[in-house]
Amino acid sequence: MAKLNPHYGKLGAGYLFPEIAKRTHSFLADHPGVSVMRLGIGNTTEPLTPTVVAGLHEGVDRLADAASYTGYGDEQGTLALREALARRYEEYGVALDVDEIFVSDGAKPDSANIQSIFDQDDVVALQDPCYPVYVDSNVIGGRTGGEADGQYEGLVYMPCTEDNGFFPALPEGDVDLIYLCSPNNPTGAVATLGQLKTFVDFARERGAVIIFDAAYATFISDRRLPRTIYEVEGAKDCAIEIGSFSKEAGFTGVRLGWTIVPKALSCEDASAGAVNGLWLRRQTTMFNGASNIVQHGGLAILSEQGQQECGELVAYYMANAKIIRKALEALGITCYGGDNAPYVWMKTPGGMPSWTFFDKLLNECHVVGTPGAGFGPSGEGYFRLSAFGHRADIEEAVRSIQEKLTS
Ligand SMILES: Cc1ncc(COP(=O)(O)O)c(C=O)c1O
Repeated sequence: MAKLNPHYGKLGAGYLFPEIAKRTHSFLADHPGVSVMRLGIGNTTEPLTPTVVAGLHEGVDRLADAASYTGYGDEQGTLALREALARRYEEYGVALDVDEIFVSDGAKPDSANIQSIFDQDDVVALQDPCYPVYVDSNVIGGRTGGEADGQYEGLVYMPCTEDNGFFPALPEGDVDLIYLCSPNNPTGAVATLGQLKTFVDFARERGAVIIFDAAYATFISDRRLPRTIYEVEGAKDCAIEIGSFSKEAGFTGVRLGWTIVPKALSCEDASAGAVNGLWLRRQTTMFNGASNIVQHGGLAILSEQGQQECGELVAYYMANAKIIRKALEALGITCYGGDNAPYVWMKTPGGMPSWTFFDKLLNECHVVGTPGAGFGPSGEGYFRLSAFGHRADIEEAVRSIQEKLTS
């Protein structure tokens, strides 16, 4: 008889976003005629920019002509797109070989799949709170025991709190894989070069590997802050970086991202080049490459005009973030993030449990946000509001909070 992967059974029954959807639907069913304003899921709302649309159209047109038609391509992406990505990193002051860049269908699959090339006994450390995919993929990968009090046995949680500016201290004990995300989802905190250097030095010393999620890199406007971990000297020896066009270009539904696995990267049983080779092996076996049409759109994103337009798109969402943060602060609510990241991380009034605040905000103001506890135990007492939305909807949500939220 066939058996299922038992590790799936350890996953919490209610993944964060389905639970939010369930509570929202139940509220709407009880309140016919009421509409809710969604600042919960970080889903883009604004249309693709003209240059990117033209790039996608061109990608389609190429398929209509035998001379430019392409079928299966290199699993790791077209050379043109990898060269264009390498040029982006050059602007960050980082030289990458095109063989170190793996184009994908997004940061979520890559951040979930990357653990599969590492040993099952590797000890995983994660920021707490964090993007839930890092935790769940390692649970499925068999690196944990069961869950108790919001924590899985076997994972090393690195608390990110008000006291440490939402960037963790180095983990204690032996850890092998370290997940870091900056700009951070959900806290909106952005790591400084010095903070990243501490982790890079630690990883190099211990032979640990950092998995660095830079999905929101282009939301950093403060030029003193690093947009890639490779700005830290030595990071290529120990870090894999994951990127995405989802939020920067509105590609959440179109799907395009990338992962950098430097050839210099080594670990206990893999010399330089071997980790890169293994990810190539994994991708060529399990993935047939991102859509050729979409990769053409990616080239348009990285063109000069595309970058100009996508910069305006990012600025639009960041203006939303400022509106949200300003309004909450005017109510005396302590807020973090929202300055170099599209998320505002607010303290719940009076330290209320974050799911209680979720229900209160929904019932009183008809606004949906994301409870901090859904991102890990240290998220308790916090609440995430996303800046992705039409301006008018953001303004209406903020007005509703200002007028109706009772203390
Ligand atoms: C930290 C982080 N990484 C990755 C993703 C997923 O990105 P993609 O749409 O490229 O799969 C998200 C999406 O919200 C995210 O917040």
